[in-house]
Amino acid sequence: MSIEDRIHWNERYRHPRRELLTHPRQLLVEHIHLLPRHGLALDLAMGPGRNAGLLQDRGLQVIGVDISPLAVQRAKQSYPGLMAFVADLTRFHLPTNYFDVLLNFYYLQRDLWGEFSRILRPGGLLFYETLTQDIRKVREDISPEYLLHHNELKAAFSDWEILYYQEGWRSSSHGQQKAVASMIARLPNG
Ligand SMILES: C[S@@+](CC[C@H](N)C(=O)[O-])C[C@H]1O[C@@H](n2cnc3c(N)ncnc32)[C@H](O)[C@@H]1O
Repeated sequence: MSIEDRIHWNERYRHPRRELLTHPRQLLVEHIHLLPRHGLALDLAMGPGRNAGLLQDRGLQVIGVDISPLAVQRAKQSYPGLMAFVADLTRFHLPTNYFDVLLNFYYLQRDLWGEFSRILRPGGLLFYETLTQDIRKVREDISPEYLLHHNELKAAFSDWEILYYQEGWRSSSHGQQKAVASMIARLPNG
């Protein structure tokens, strides 16, 4: 991860599709009742803030991190209460026992997974969704490195309380089909 990622993502956010700014991820919307009404949340690779904004509206304080300065700027414009930072997650140190909710949508950095149980408070919630290898049936251009293997996510968090898990094809917000794994998991208390 690097300057190239920063440039690449900034370009993508220069003229974003409208839903990218306004429509929170379906997994979050459908399971909003699981979220606490206060506490601190972290949105990893937040993008322009649509998911972080939903959490903030719910009553949580939200810290959002993204490598793209333009994404962070757009997030702050749309949701002035957000604490949003430009940072490269491959080089970022996250504090211990700090967050009540963690969002990881459409960003795959496997070496962060082991950190999640350290940075979340016991009982904290993880919302995770990203593409699986199946997407290559329709999008061969996506590198397998950025795609989950079948059941990989579930296996990696098998010692957590899995509240929701699904793998398969879903409609994206712009009407195309995407192959994803979606998970909501709770870090066990103690
Ligand atoms: C597919 S977008 C997902 C954005 C958002 N989570 C959502 O669901 O709409 C991937 C995001 O990862 C960010 N990103 C890529 N590499 C990163 C890195 N090394 N550190 C932090 N953010 C990164 C990009 O800027 C982009 O906003």
